[in-house]
Amino acid sequence: MKTQLGGDVGIAAALLSRGELVAIPTETVYGLAGNALNDEAVIKIYKAKNRPQFNPLIVHVSSLSQVEKYVLDIPEMLFKLAQACWPGSLTLLLPKNEAIPDLVTAGSFQVAIRIPNHSLTLSLLQALPFPLAAPSANPFGYVSPTTAAHVLEGLGGKIPYILDGGPCTIGVESTIAGCNPTGEIEVYRLGGIGLETIESITGKKPILKLKADLPETPGQLKSHYATHTPLLLSNASKSLPHFTNKTIYIGYNLWMKDLPRERQLLLAPDNRLESAARNLFGLLREADKVQADKIFIELVPNYGIGRAINDRIRRALHENKVHAIPKT
Ligand code: TXA
Ligand code: MG
Repeated sequence: MKTQLGGDVGIAAALLSRGELVAIPTETVYGLAGNALNDEAVIKIYKAKNRPQFNPLIVHVSSLSQVEKYVLDIPEMLFKLAQACWPGSLTLLLPKNEAIPDLVTAGSFQVAIRIPNHSLTLSLLQALPFPLAAPSANPFGYVSPTTAAHVLEGLGGKIPYILDGGPCTIGVESTIAGCNPTGEIEVYRLGGIGLETIESITGKKPILKLKADLPETPGQLKSHYATHTPLLLSNASKSLPHFTNKTIYIGYNLWMKDLPRERQLLLAPDNRLESAARNLFGLLREADKVQADKIFIELVPNYGIGRAINDRIRRALHENKVHAIPKT
């Protein structure tokens, strides 16, 4: 199959209506979209990504009234969050109704749903009579894509069309939140919307449920987003003795002294966490391409979107990758 790339919402809509898959831009990462109400399209998504079917998909819609068509209820605090954050990088876990196939939620009674903040994808969703199921558009286990070119690298030949909406403006996946039976907000995956933002909207600190090694919790498969080149956490100058002339260093905002510039990349030369988020996956991919022996990366300040960045860095580390492969 030849993969085409373009900015034509009409082509994307026609393909999706025929049950085909299209990669779509969002503000977080590119998604691999299919008709969420069509089992065959949903199965194609799992196949193209090589993703286990026990790992459910996020459903994308264009408005709150669309959300209401697919859920039984929106608890008050989550409704408040939805009103404040949508369109945006927040995914809510809500009790699904019978319109959403079990295949999308991997059998769960809850559906993960969000309104993405990207004009092309919003107009695509408005043109379609069905919602779009879309995981990140990367082969299972590799770094998420933040440009159309990244999608092409990973899924070229497997899907007919990539809707090119330019580089993603947020750069890390959405925050996934829900609420427990007593109405408290729980966060299952750190992402584009910071915990501080959730607290300022709801007036209460959300409860963190980031159980790192339980694959049944959202976003929590341990070896996720990993580079092929071993990724190691840099501990400032203590890491230096471990550098060879084939080692790449990814820093936050400052160049490492005593190391040639051509082997360094900076997440945020402007010192802004938002830039680090936007650059993270692209730089990991860049560092992964140059046949380095290893990549050292530095954590970023741990607040706001910085928490999501550090979460993704930790998840991509070589030590997690090694643990994820059963030793035989
Ligand atoms: O920013 C994003 O959320 C991007 C863009 C494309 O919207 N999507 C994304 O999808 O990151 P994905 O599939 O890579 O990650 C979705 C996470 C998975 O960890 C999955 O386990 C969890 O959401 N999830 C989806 N549906 C769920 C459900 N019904 N219950 C619990 N977790 C769910
Ligand atoms: Mg993903």
